[in-house]
Amino acid sequence: MPLSDLAVHLAPESLAEQMAEDVRAGLGSRPRTLPPKYFYDARGSELFDEITRLPEYYPTRAEREILDARVGEIASVTAAETLIELGSGTSEKTRLLLRALRDHGTLNRFVPFDVDPAVLQEASRAVAGEFPGLAVAPVVGDFERHLGELPAGPRRLLAFLGSTIGNFEPAQRTAFLAAVRGTLSAGDHFLLGTDLVKSPARLVAAYADSRGVTAAFNRNVLAVLDRELDADFDPDAFEHVAVWDAEHEWIEMRLRSRTRQRVHVRAISLVVDLEEGEEIRTEISAKFRPESITRELARAGLRVTDLWTDAAGDFALSLSTPV
Ligand code: SAH
Ligand code: TRP
Repeated sequence: MPLSDLAVHLAPESLAEQMAEDVRAGLGSRPRTLPPKYFYDARGSELFDEITRLPEYYPTRAEREILDARVGEIASVTAAETLIELGSGTSEKTRLLLRALRDHGTLNRFVPFDVDPAVLQEASRAVAGEFPGLAVAPVVGDFERHLGELPAGPRRLLAFLGSTIGNFEPAQRTAFLAAVRGTLSAGDHFLLGTDLVKSPARLVAAYADSRGVTAAFNRNVLAVLDRELDADFDPDAFEHVAVWDAEHEWIEMRLRSRTRQRVHVRAISLVVDLEEGEEIRTEISAKFRPESITRELARAGLRVTDLWTDAAGDFALSLSTPV
């Protein structure tokens, strides 16, 4: 059945323009920061896929365990005709949902939505091959800007898995949830995966694995800047750092300059002087508590109908609906 061409809401020029703006703002201020969406070029998506299989990275397995146990319930509560997945990546765990919704007899369309066209193309082809009869309509876009362009239709299930919501700053997260609420109508549902607060040792290990895959993922953002903005970062001149911020309850990923160095981001005529040991914050990964998830969703106008965790209590999956 039909695999549509990628619908592109993110022209390469507009991504480049936004990257220029974000990088100028982030590297030009203190503490220095870089926004996380630029991790995900083809290489970054590949490295993330590898992260999901690391022994230390429990979130993917925990979320899969919940899905395994609950997809039947999710299918009967939502009776979804369309499954839209934000930040879909490889859509690996999503297949559990697709199967359950297909078996329930309601599903006819799958809309994976991601900023990386390469991972989207490959995942869409694979899903279309595995689910004959399903319309697969992939969308390239930025989920912070293009939620208004999601396809209409009755009984949509909007899934946002992998605790990607934790990668927003609190204010962005509030804005994102409001935008999600704004796109949903009566009869639609929102399925959200959120990693939970746990021992700092386990949290840090999940973001600083012993094989260095997360370090390579983190440094990849510098290779993206070298390519896209004609910068001269040497990724090996930076050390990967993951720290638990107990006050904000988030993991912070940073790149620490091994030496005093000068970097040029030529496309935007930016010169960055870094001290030895100076850090660039590249990502936060916020961790949640069941009460805070329900409260934040409620503030956005979403009522939680179910909240499940895995047996170990490491991860939560919530199903909510517009009030
Ligand atoms: N859902 C998958 C992948 C999570 S990784 C899982 O649970 O394993 C985060 C995904 O979100 C990546 O595929 C990345 O390309 C995508 N992404 C990151 N920022 C994005 C943005 N601003 N807009 C759309 N997709 C984004
Ligand atoms: N959403 C994932 C998370 O917060 C993304 C992620 C996993 C990530 N490992 C990472 C982002 C390492 C940056 C660096 O768990």
